[in-house]
Amino acid sequence: MPDRVTELFFELFSGLPRQGPGSAADTRRALGLVPEIGRRARILDIGCGTGAQTLVLAVSSPACIVAIDTHPPFIDALNREARRLGIEDRLQARVADMGSLDFADGSFDLIWCEGAIYNVGVERGLRDWRRLLSRNGHVAFTEVCWRKPSPPAECLAFWNREYPAIRSTTALLEAVEACGYAVVGHFPLPSSAWWDDYYRPLQRNISAFRESHRDAPDAQALADQCQHEIDVWHAHSEFYGYEFLVLKAR
Ligand SMILES: C[S@@+](CC[C@H](N)C(=O)[O-])C[C@H]1O[C@@H](n2cnc3c(N)ncnc32)[C@H](O)[C@@H]1O
Repeated sequence: MPDRVTELFFELFSGLPRQGPGSAADTRRALGLVPEIGRRARILDIGCGTGAQTLVLAVSSPACIVAIDTHPPFIDALNREARRLGIEDRLQARVADMGSLDFADGSFDLIWCEGAIYNVGVERGLRDWRRLLSRNGHVAFTEVCWRKPSPPAECLAFWNREYPAIRSTTALLEAVEACGYAVVGHFPLPSSAWWDDYYRPLQRNISAFRESHRDAPDAQALADQCQHEIDVWHAHSEFYGYEFLVLKAR
């Protein structure tokens, strides 16, 4: 049984097109950096959420895709969508924890993870998931990075609290190499992937959520927290952003 905070959290995030920054165009651009995604290719999408990027992978490639997330309603929604599109034979979503995946070694040619590897940390994710890859397998993921040194105090305090593991793009690229991967390509997500695809719809949810929980201090506190994240982004987004990385296992 989820606790009240978790319930409120998922209510606030319900009905969003995606659960983090990203866009269909960026998913396609990253997929374009991966060679040879044929009909026999197998993709694992980790932390799929409601599957915005999973569906892009499914329509942009003939591969078979398994998508996992810990939140059962997201998995149900994605499986429903796969059935509606008639692609349930090559897109299956299941509830699983990215920290303890039990697929056999070499099960996948490509591991995808948009806006979710932070849940276990980049190094742990890349090292643990490597055994799941076939020979010459690839990994694509997004991760928040510092873009400029010396962020203002408010911005630094926000990230030190929310995700102290944030580092510069250069440091991230060095870290993935140290985990045994070669960088095939990387690019920053544009600010439209934060605002149009994520924060603008979230901003609408925050307003409606505040209205329907007018007398609940815990719900208002959660709305304040999300609003602060958006406000920090409006004020300081030049200092940080998501980087999309495509890697090849060495
Ligand atoms: C920021 S959202 C990104 C979702 C989606 N990839 C997107 O970009 O819209 C992170 C996702 O990771 C999932 N998640 C969190 N911890 C997880 C875990 N241990 N294993 C699998 N999924 C997890 C959450 O339920 C959520 O759907």
